[in-house]
Formats: sequence, structure tokens, C-alpha cells
Amino acid sequence: MEKLKVIILAAGQGTRMKSKIPKVLHKVLDKTMIDYVIDAAEKAGCDDICAIIGHQSAMVKAVLAGRVKTALQKEQLGTGHAVMQAGDFIKDGGNVVILCGDTPLITAETINKLNEIHCSQNNDVTVISAIAEDATGYGRIVKDNGGRFIKIVEHKDCNSEELKIKEYNTGVYIFKSTALTDALSKLTNNNSQGEYYLTDALEIIKNDGGKVGVMTAEDESEFIGVNSKLQLSQAAKTIRKRINENLMISGVTIEDPDNTYIGQDVEIAPDTIILPGCVLEGKTKIGTDCIIGPNTMISGSVIHDAVIIKNSTLVNSEVDNFTTVGPYAYLRPNSKIGEHVKIGDFVEVKNSNIDDGTKVSHLTYIGDSDVGKNINFGCGTVTVNYDGKNKFRTTIGDNAFIGCNTNLVAPVTVEENAYIAAGSTITNDVPESALSIARARQVNKPEWRKKMGK
Ligand code: UD1
Ligand code: CA
Repeated sequence: MEKLKVIILAAGQGTRMKSKIPKVLHKVLDKTMIDYVIDAAEKAGCDDICAIIGHQSAMVKAVLAGRVKTALQKEQLGTGHAVMQAGDFIKDGGNVVILCGDTPLITAETINKLNEIHCSQNNDVTVISAIAEDATGYGRIVKDNGGRFIKIVEHKDCNSEELKIKEYNTGVYIFKSTALTDALSKLTNNNSQGEYYLTDALEIIKNDGGKVGVMTAEDESEFIGVNSKLQLSQAAKTIRKRINENLMISGVTIEDPDNTYIGQDVEIAPDTIILPGCVLEGKTKIGTDCIIGPNTMISGSVIHDAVIIKNSTLVNSEVDNFTTVGPYAYLRPNSKIGEHVKIGDFVEVKNSNIDDGTKVSHLTYIGDSDVGKNINFGCGTVTVNYDGKNKFRTTIGDNAFIGCNTNLVAPVTVEENAYIAAGSTITNDVPESALSIARARQVNKPEWRKKMGK
């Protein structure tokens, strides 16, 4: 099959979103709507994609930067006018798929099927239609008695007979680029909205002796366009369901799929259990035999095998095999946790490495630190990494023991096997195997209260 080009229409305003953010940049789970459309196109093997942008184009362009080409439609004069802005992009032969930036449910399978039908029937253009009891708002597919395509009529231009037609235009097409270029040059804006309709291109191609195909979709939900925040939440629900079902089919246990929010780029191995209330997003990768949740947020992180994470938040971090995290732990970016580590309750880790077998059980902050193996942190340890201006690192050697309520004022090194007494504020390096006590000595004054008259 020939190489495909894809045009994504995304210049419209999206007034009904009632938002300062352009419509196609609204997010479903962790990605913008147009990202889903681009993903589907890429998954279908198209790597030459051009988005038509217009309304708030700078913002849209910034988000799409590098991912796809863009063409600017200065004024939104209709879908046909939008495609015209692609200019040379469509002038070098092959086929061009047209998608909309506000239909995040479109799948690669559908794009491939459209391409196959279009090529095998040798059509000049093939449009995807769907059937609805109530096709209000959509362009209707008008056919002759023999079921042959005649034209598409926009809802606003329909006569009373045409309004009864249940087959409508989903807005997804594939054109031979030569036929498209030729038809675009003949478009007029002679209609109720005074716009250049892309839909008229099909009638023009047919009247010029070209071949127009119609592929009727089995699942019309794929073509739902998102125009409002309500429709956005409905689309999100469908996408979530799709992602969760695929994971469950692949062997992941999701206890309550309706309360589990997993992004499209998250990978989870079989035999891992996801408990209710989890939000897993970005390029997160989770191994096998893990138990995640309840109420856990993981973003852009790598979790290896047999890890247990309860009620915690992890951002851009890595957790190795057999480690437990939480409840109520916070792993901030660039935390790398080894195997058989315990990160307990109310522990925060940032930009730190914690090696195998170390236990950080409760109420501790580890920031900008390199922590060795089999270290025990007492409750309430703080790495004092910031002097108000600069950040400094703390280094702790293997098998050290950090007593409760210790402050480690960085830059500082605690060597292997060192032992820090509880309540110490450590400002100097501690040598290997030494005991360090850095606190005022306790003074007991006998009978003191009685002397005070009590
Ligand atoms: C369009 C189709 C209609 C179809 C429906 C399916 C036309 C004339 N009509 O109608 O037959 O049933 O989609 O959802 O094509 N856009 C631009 N520039 C413009 C105008 C639109 O980029 O000047 C973009 C919009 O941002 C949107 C897409 O094109 O992503 C579709 O435009 P919209 O105005 O929503 O078309 P509909 O009226 O829904
Ligand atoms: Ca629309």
C-alpha cells in the first residue's frame, strides 16, 4: 500500500468549550485530544502529518511542536478552505486521510480499514459514514435508488426529505491527492453558511467522473466530536474504558475499572493488581506481581516487579523489585529506589538514590542524597539540603544507622557502618564505623520541682 499522508483539521474555535484553551488542547486523561488523533494516525503507519491550525494557533503550535507539520488557516472559512491551506503538502501524489482534531476516539484500525477499502476499490475518495436515528447537526449522505453516492448535504442546507436521512458524514475521508487538489480548486462557498465545505469536494469528484466510496462504520462512537466539557467527559469515559479493558485482557487485574484512570502510554505487566482510585499517567511502566493502590498517583515512572505501593504519589521516579512504598509517601522527580527497600509513611524523597535493603520507615525527608545499602533511618530524619540559596548533597554509606530525629546538614558524608545517635544535628562528616552524637548533654536537676514549691 502507498504511503499515507494525514491532514488534521484543528483551526476551529470551539466556542462551546467556554474556555481560554483552544478546543483540541483540552485533555482526556493525560493527553490532549489532538494527541490521540495523532497517535491513531501514527499507529496506522502515517508519519507525514499536517495539522491545520488557526484559532489560538501559537498555543496549538507550541504543543504540537516537532510532532507534526502545521499549516495556518488565518480565517476559518470552512473545512474545504482549511484543507486548501495544506498547499504543497497534498500536491505530490498518493493518498491523503482527513481527520478532525476533536475526535479523540478514532482508532488506527479504522484508518487502516478505510485505506484498504479505498485502495482495493480504487476510489478517488472514500468517506466514512455512520447511521443514527437522529443525525441532527451532521451532513447527510444522499444516495440514489441504487445506493450510489450523490452528495453530502450539511444539516443547515437539508430539505425536509434530506433531514430524514439517517446515514451521516463522520468527517473522516481518504482522497487521492490529485482528485483532492483538483476538487479544492473548484469549491465555492455558495451555501447557507457561506463556507467552503470539504464535503462538496465529493460531489465535484463524482460529477467529474471520479469514483466515490462510502464505508459505513460499525461503531459510530469512534467519530464523536467533542464540542463541550460534557462531551469531553463522555469521550474520556470511553477512552478510559478502552484502555482499562485492553489491560485486563492482557492479564492485569483492575479491581474497579470505573475508578481507575490509566493513560494510553502506560504499560503494565500481567498479574499486577491495580486497586481503586489510582491515576497512572505518562510513560509509566509497571512490572509483574505488583500491587498498586488504593489511591495512588504515578506519573512518568518505572516500577519493577513485585512492588507494593499504597496511597502514594510518584513522579518521574524508579522503584526496583520487592520494594514497598507508602502509605502516604511522595517520590518526587529523579528518585531511584533499589530492591527490597522500605519507603514508609510520610516519607518524601527527591532527586536521590536509595540502594538495596535500606529502610526509611516514617516521617523522613531525603533530598539530593546518595544513600547506600541496608541503612536504617529512624523516624523523623531530615536531609538539610538547602541553605536558602543553594542545594547540597548528602552521602550515606552502606549499613549506617541514622537515629531518630537526625538532621543531616549538607554537604555532608556519613561513612559506612557509622552510627548516629538520635536527635543529632550532623554538620561534619562522620567516619566509618564511628558513633556520632551531636546534641546537648542531658542535665537532671534532682528535686527541682519540689524546690519550686510543688
Ligand atoms: C463537518 C462536516 C459534516 C460532518 C461533521 C462530522 C463539513 C462542511 N461538514 O461539520 O458533514 O457531518 O463534520 O463531525 O465539512 N475546521 C477548520 N477550519 C474551518 C472550519 C472547521 O479547521 O474553517 C475544523 C474544526 O476545527 C473541526 C473540523 O474542521 O475540527 C470540523 O469542523 P466543524 O465546524 O465542527 O464541522 P461540522 O459543522 O461539525
Ligand atoms: Ca464538529
